[in-house]
Amino acid sequence: MFVQQAIAILDSGVGGLTVVKEVMRQLPREKIIYFGDTARAPYGPRSTEEVKLFTEQIVDYLIQFNPKMIVIACNTATAAALDYISAKVSIPVIGVIHPGARAAISATKTGRVGVIGTIGTIKSGAYTAALKQLSPFVEVVSQACPALVPFVEQGMFRSEESHIAVAESLNGIKYEPIDTMILGCTHYPFLVEPIGKVMGPGVKLISSADETAREISTILYEKGQLAKGDETPIHQFFCSGDAEMFQRIARDWLGEQLKRTPVVWQVSSL
Ligand code: DGL
Repeated sequence: MFVQQAIAILDSGVGGLTVVKEVMRQLPREKIIYFGDTARAPYGPRSTEEVKLFTEQIVDYLIQFNPKMIVIACNTATAAALDYISAKVSIPVIGVIHPGARAAISATKTGRVGVIGTIGTIKSGAYTAALKQLSPFVEVVSQACPALVPFVEQGMFRSEESHIAVAESLNGIKYEPIDTMILGCTHYPFLVEPIGKVMGPGVKLISSADETAREISTILYEKGQLAKGDETPIHQFFCSGDAEMFQRIARDWLGEQLKRTPVVWQVSSL
């Protein structure tokens, strides 16, 4: 029997679902195997070595399903481990930082770009490097927002408290003269409304999800590996922690998409 090869997508928790949603929308024939390391999230405050190790463990786990591609849908893990994982496996591996930087460069008119992310991502300087690689003239202002991920992981992204945390976290960067700001953590699109309110209409918010899905599409097309046939793919979603919470957030976020495509939910401690 022909088994469709999946796109493997990983994150520290539910944040990568923002990339999953775009992949489901732009590539509805593709089968997805997702791993959210909810038991060990957040990755943001952890050391580079630890994030690299955790990412490698997830990739080793996902490889057993024989995916055609790996998407590190976590900025913190992309900054810490993309090069390492790319060198280790023989299938294409992409992260979310370069796609986010590319989308920001295409959106900015003034060349002044803001980046918000986890402590790990901001400390790595990976966004500044990716932006400057594309355009040496761009000016980059960064801000770590460590308070935000836990609200998303606890399913509290619509709460009053999370909106207050957003306002407090952006208190520095909101005064910067930027016209574009990268949501440099895949969890942040869950909070796009309060973030947009604080930053105001003059700042375009960039999520890597859209551009990452486009990049997946381009790579699979060039390799002649886009899914064929009309069979509805059955996705597999794994998490390492609270399965009920994970499913609740995933169903809420993916909403309509899940009505069309069946999902198998599983818990695994790696
Ligand atoms: N979603 C991840 C990111 O894009 C990690 C958040 C975290 O676990 O701290 O950076």
